Amino acid sequence: MEHLALQELEAEAKRCLDPKIADYIAGGADDELTVRANRAAYARVGLVPRVLTGAGQPDLRVTLFGQTASMPVLISPTAFHKLAHEEGECATARAARRAGVILIASMASTVALEQVAAAAGKTWFQLYLQPDLGWTEDLVRRAEAAGCTALVITVDSPVFGHRSRDARNGFNDLPAGMRCENLRETVGSTSRVRSIVFSPELSWKELSWLRERTALKLVLKGLAHPADAKLAVACGVDGILVSNHGGRQLDTVPSTLDLLPPIVEAVDGAIPVFLDGGIRRGTDVVKALALGATAVGVGRPVLWALAMDGEQGVLDMLETLRAETERALALTGFRCPGQLNTGILRMQPAEEPWWN
Ligand code: FNR
Ligand code: LAC
Repeated sequence: MEHLALQELEAEAKRCLDPKIADYIAGGADDELTVRANRAAYARVGLVPRVLTGAGQPDLRVTLFGQTASMPVLISPTAFHKLAHEEGECATARAARRAGVILIASMASTVALEQVAAAAGKTWFQLYLQPDLGWTEDLVRRAEAAGCTALVITVDSPVFGHRSRDARNGFNDLPAGMRCENLRETVGSTSRVRSIVFSPELSWKELSWLRERTALKLVLKGLAHPADAKLAVACGVDGILVSNHGGRQLDTVPSTLDLLPPIVEAVDGAIPVFLDGGIRRGTDVVKALALGATAVGVGRPVLWALAMDGEQGVLDMLETLRAETERALALTGFRCPGQLNTGILRMQPAEEPWWN
């Protein structure tokens, strides 16, 4: 059976989701201009294929920090998977394992990280540095002990973005029986959507503190400015995930596809650069990789697929994206993700304001 394309999943998932939860997943900050920009950017880039390259069968495998993933697609961290399906993060993790992809497990999970990592196999742990550094260090040790190979530190959240839909819906508390399983009661309430502390006090000082305390690979998620990319390299970070949090934090941040090239240039090959936001098609993956990303992440489609059909739904979604990416790679004349380059891109200047 032909599976649904990723952008078709939202409408299907809505049928099985409480409207408040559907809004929490789909929504963004303020006017949601950045949410739309992330998608619109891909329509402004054309692919100009090379022909008769003799490329042979596509091989999507990539090695990330010494681990081989079956394709250059990561599962980006999203909070509270039990909102979408009763098995929550366990179902997502099993799908990641079956697909051979790396799961970036959100700190804001409804299943404890140890269980998620055991089910997923290849796991990176996403962390919001908490002002209580002692508590943060304990959580890092838990991630290490659980076999996570990287920490993904989300840095686009000194405060919460204003999510208009959640404000309108009064969506503040998790449904009964769900909580943020990685938080201890001592940190505060664990059953609120905003249980995790977002702190504007955090600086590069705390990042250096973390760098000194763990041998895990460190990836900074939510970096947008090339000047910050340079600071990240200087700080000893191992990777950058260019992200605008799927348009959920600062509205009017440009699309991640537009943010990517200056960051790739600033980093100059020192560390891998990843991207998430708006990836819905294999051609999107190919475009981001051609612009210098080593791999890309998907966020909302995971939750939509989970809502529709649990573990199998997430696996089907990943296999759809894999088939599309293989086809796009073959049709552009390449065999491996690493061979892609800007020579196949035709960038159309935005005639409209960039967020349309
Ligand atoms: C997120 N995102 C996110 N990021 C993060 O670092 N920690 C988190 O807990 C969450 N939680 C979260 C919940 C939901 C419902 C969404 C939609 C997103 C952001 C996520 O990792 C990613 O950056 C975007 O979702 C990518 O954009 P797309 O693929 O959703 O367009
Ligand atoms: C969100 C937070 C939890 O985007 O990262 O909803």
